[in-house]
Amino acid sequence: MEKDLVFSLIENEKKRESEGFELIPSENYVSKEVLAAAGSILTNKYSEGYPNFEGVPGNAEEKIAEEILPNYRYYGGQENIDRIERLAIDRACRLFNADHANVQPHSGANANEAVYWAWCEPGDKILAMNLGHGGHLTHGSPVTRSAHIYDFIAYGTTPEGDIDYDELEKLAIEHQPKIILIGYSAFMKIPDFKRVAKIGKKIPGCLLMADMAHVAGLIAGGEHPNPLDFGFNVMTTTTHKTLRGPRSGLILSKGNVASPLRKPEKTLENIPILIDRAVFPGTQGGPLEHIIAAKAVAFGEALKPEFKTYAKNIKKNAKVLAEELVKAGFKLCGGGTENHLILANVEESFGVNGKFYEKALDMVGLTLNANAVPGDKGGAFRPSGVRFGTPAMTTRGLGTKEMKQIAVWMKRVMDICVGVGTEENILNAKEELDAIREEVKKLALEYPVPAI
Ligand SMILES: Cc1ncc(COP(=O)(O)O)c(C=O)c1O
Repeated sequence: MEKDLVFSLIENEKKRESEGFELIPSENYVSKEVLAAAGSILTNKYSEGYPNFEGVPGNAEEKIAEEILPNYRYYGGQENIDRIERLAIDRACRLFNADHANVQPHSGANANEAVYWAWCEPGDKILAMNLGHGGHLTHGSPVTRSAHIYDFIAYGTTPEGDIDYDELEKLAIEHQPKIILIGYSAFMKIPDFKRVAKIGKKIPGCLLMADMAHVAGLIAGGEHPNPLDFGFNVMTTTTHKTLRGPRSGLILSKGNVASPLRKPEKTLENIPILIDRAVFPGTQGGPLEHIIAAKAVAFGEALKPEFKTYAKNIKKNAKVLAEELVKAGFKLCGGGTENHLILANVEESFGVNGKFYEKALDMVGLTLNANAVPGDKGGAFRPSGVRFGTPAMTTRGLGTKEMKQIAVWMKRVMDICVGVGTEENILNAKEELDAIREEVKKLALEYPVPAI
């Protein structure tokens, strides 16, 4: 039988991933086991509703594997699905010291939207980080649905690249938001959760929410503070970045865990139940149980001691890569990095915009993304910066020696960009770029992508 064209494109993608390096800080490579669960027959099953939460978290895995409990589902045939979802919940709670985990959000965006829906009424205020300073689209960008429903107020960062906590406090007191949200997709410092929690506690009925999509794997590996340990009520995350699971979302919370059937009183203590109702039926339908199974496998991997080493190495590699690039003349936002993520202002450093540099690096097999820097005048399509990081390269086993090599290639490509002057002339340097591409490929093939 003729093979569907899709499979030949998947083969092409396997080659692309194998022969280059992924520097995009929000990407990673899953294990064979995570991939097997994500590609399993669990995709066949409908399971709207929830399993029974009794005994979760902190239950023994064997007990979960044996028990069949009455559930809150709308379809029959759930005996295996229930236990898989309970395993995912239990492991997520243990990993992040949470009272409750909702493992059903299809993505990070869905997770955030469900939390807003769980706690806010239309028109309520949410205080979140300015998108142009490193916040995320789902934190109030006018192009999102949430921004049409809620009133987002933005705090920014300081010239040194840290959160402007004084501004955050001033805005919180002035606007009395229903949610204070700490979260970002381009921020290189460790947030002061304690200070933010202190501010939030002064505002009646204010939910403290952290969107840790980028650093969840560092938290799981003990290399980053956990907002839930500092009085935050809720933590959302994606599961596919540093956490190295399937492409999906997760909501962790502190508070009462109970049947989602009865409509609970709207209190901060009841936030786990309110979240369950906001995910299903509030904002989603049937859960993706194959992806929930893959999340359970990934959480199991993250609970192992090896994951601590992985998280440590992500940070070590990021620090070395940042230091080498500074030596090579790159100006980094915030001066460097305290996590896995680096934001370089290439326009200011070399007069080359982020998109041009991204394209040139693509041609040698080094993938990253152009990104705005705080106060950027280049706009979304010609930003001054590039954003990159080390989670994926660290998964492949690269260490600090290889980070130095990556920095050398990045500088050589930058010199080529400066030499040709404009993006349109990049093909004039094809020979030089091809030579670097061969070097990249040689090293990349020495560090295979795990599940290929
Ligand atoms: C901080 C943050 N929140 C939410 C999201 C959205 O996640 P998803 O793409 O899974 O919807 C992202 C994705 O990059 C993110 O960085």
